Amino acid sequence: MTTKSQAVLDWIDERFPLTSTWKAHLSEYYAPKNFNFWYFFGSLALLVLVIQIVTGIFLVMHYKPDASLNAAGVPVAFASVEYIMREVPGGWLIRYLHSTGASAFFIVVYLHMFRGLLYGSYRKPRELIWIFGTLIFLVLMAEAFMGYLLPWGQMSFWGAQVIVNLFSAIPLIGPDLSLVIRGDYVVSDATLNRFFSFHVIAVPLVLIGLVVAHIVALHEVGSNNPDGVEIKKKKDANGIPLDGIPFHPYYTVKDIVGVVAFLFFFSAVVFFAPEGGGYFLEFNNFIPADPLKTPPHIAPVWYFTPFYSILRAVTYPLFGLDAKFWGVVAMGASVVIIAFLPWLDRSPVKSMRYKGPVFKIAVAVFVVCFFILGYLGVLPPTPGRTLVSQICSVLYFAFFLLMPWYSKLDKCKPEPERVTFK
Ligand code: HEM
Repeated sequence: MTTKSQAVLDWIDERFPLTSTWKAHLSEYYAPKNFNFWYFFGSLALLVLVIQIVTGIFLVMHYKPDASLNAAGVPVAFASVEYIMREVPGGWLIRYLHSTGASAFFIVVYLHMFRGLLYGSYRKPRELIWIFGTLIFLVLMAEAFMGYLLPWGQMSFWGAQVIVNLFSAIPLIGPDLSLVIRGDYVVSDATLNRFFSFHVIAVPLVLIGLVVAHIVALHEVGSNNPDGVEIKKKKDANGIPLDGIPFHPYYTVKDIVGVVAFLFFFSAVVFFAPEGGGYFLEFNNFIPADPLKTPPHIAPVWYFTPFYSILRAVTYPLFGLDAKFWGVVAMGASVVIIAFLPWLDRSPVKSMRYKGPVFKIAVAVFVVCFFILGYLGVLPPTPGRTLVSQICSVLYFAFFLLMPWYSKLDKCKPEPERVTFK
């Protein structure tokens, strides 16, 4: 560094902890040297978050949250999205980046969570990282749900109608609660305005705050790795973990490789299949919302469907409360239970590499059930499909609830002293 630039840096450092922050979180932050493919998805989730915020800012410049009809008899909100697609220079690109980004976000986050499950990244001392992660997941679902109402298409309208109605199944407060959420007796302009406000400012602020907390917690305890070995246990004379390498430049460069590969696939979808075969943008949502015409089949977007299937799998009333109420409870529980993983897994080892066959089979069954539930969630229910989703829902919960038992009795391999790295 030239003396001049060093002088500028010194000037800043006397007033702001620039160099020390850079060192603490990048150039002298030691991460395990054995990160693999699965460790791309945290930085990719950050990238998609930035894509969503930046494209969202540009969409808001032209979008109008207004359910009234224009001179052509089309809802203003729907027409403003069409205006973005057809008239705004580059508008189609911004909109497709944002709509594809929503699905990409869930793909990346699901893979990121699965990595946690593979390597026991939720175990002590990383419980809070995991809890912040589960909260991020919940908030992300709220963000996506509210964003989907904004184009004011048939699926936007009827999807919101179905989901907000679910809240009315809660005893005592339910009907009033759904009224507060909608701001009206039916999904209307009031609903569109409050969802817009939440989607654009309130929820993103919470999301960003949680992501910061997530990373602060991670940097406090340090990253786990594919062997599940704590690298801080073996340090050299200078206090540097023997199996650690500085995050910058090693992992900044590695993450750039992930970013390039991700952008390759992401742009292929954005440019050649932005509707994602009707899964990313449902075909019915290209029809303006019509409160008088219910579409024959209402299904949420793919990332909600595993949980939606669990909701629909509950068909029996219990304790005098109807099936809808228990469905809502089961759906809520299926997300919340994820937060308890750190205390459900009692295995002596963290990583799947050293876990025994029972845990591996349990994870495989869980993943298969999750996919089946996701698939069934997009289809209209039939008695056969309901039965399959009931079986898969039971297995979904059994994976978590029986974990304290089967994780303990499993025959694990011994964890190595140091990370394995070839
Ligand atoms: C907006 C969404 C999210 C962002 C931006 C994000 C970001 C990150 C980043 C940058 C890392 C460090 C790099 C890495 O280990 O891959 C990380 C680690 C981690 N994240 Fe997330 N995350 C998100 C959502 C979640 C969710 C939903 C969960 C779980 C419910 C989760 C659980 C974890 C865990 C356990 C670690 C530590 C992994 C380890 O050390 O092996 N994250 N996250």
